[in-house]
Amino acid sequence: MNRELLQHLIRASGRMALFIGIAVAILVGVRQWVEPKIEAAHQAELLASLTELLPPDSYDNDLLHDTSTITAPNLLGTGKPVTLYRARKQGKPVAVLFEAVAPEGYSGPIRLLIGIRADGHLLGVRVLEHRETPGLGDKIEKSKTDWVDSFVGRQLTPTNESQWAVKKDGGMFDQFTGATITPRAVVKAVKKALIFFNRNREKLWN
Ligand SMILES: Cc1cc2nc3c(=O)[nH]c(=O)nc-3n(C[C@H](O)[C@H](O)[C@H](O)COP(=O)(O)O)c2cc1C
Repeated sequence: MNRELLQHLIRASGRMALFIGIAVAILVGVRQWVEPKIEAAHQAELLASLTELLPPDSYDNDLLHDTSTITAPNLLGTGKPVTLYRARKQGKPVAVLFEAVAPEGYSGPIRLLIGIRADGHLLGVRVLEHRETPGLGDKIEKSKTDWVDSFVGRQLTPTNESQWAVKKDGGMFDQFTGATITPRAVVKAVKKALIFFNRNREKLWN
């Protein structure tokens, strides 16, 4: 290889390396700028859902900072640590709210927020994120139908355990016309969250 060609190749590689370096720096910068915004949006969405489930006069502590974390992949549907938001009034446990994942949605995992009163009855459930089909599975969204309100006030006991299913499977919850998979997945996830609560209720506010 002659000297000129070699110098040309070295200069071209240098320019290429510089270009790649700049591109990587831009990507890292954009990511660092976007990630906190996504996290902040998630927090805002979570806070809106928390306050939707929990009447403001029912607690007097700083809910967002009275938290603990727990990992329970089998019952909460995620291997990641889950934050428990603990509501108290005059120091006494009122409710606990936490995310759970329904892994068996029609189009993948469905993120849920579940609120349970200290006595084991459900405050309510909200769908935080899903990819179910519009007009079919998306009826789990509170903005689309009231289906999710069918959980309010319910609890899981040894005598009603078999009722925790959609009607098509012999349970007490409606399915949707032409869409059983989505509500079935949500009912199963809420039931598991209640099993988690019943097993750990003594420890949750400590
Ligand atoms: C394009 C398409 C999208 C669908 N989306 C959903 C959905 O989001 N949720 C759901 O439960 N079923 C959905 N279904 C229907 C399911 O395949 C299934 O037939 C339905 O849940 C009824 O289940 P079942 O036969 O156990 O009652 C969809 C079907 C098609 C063809």
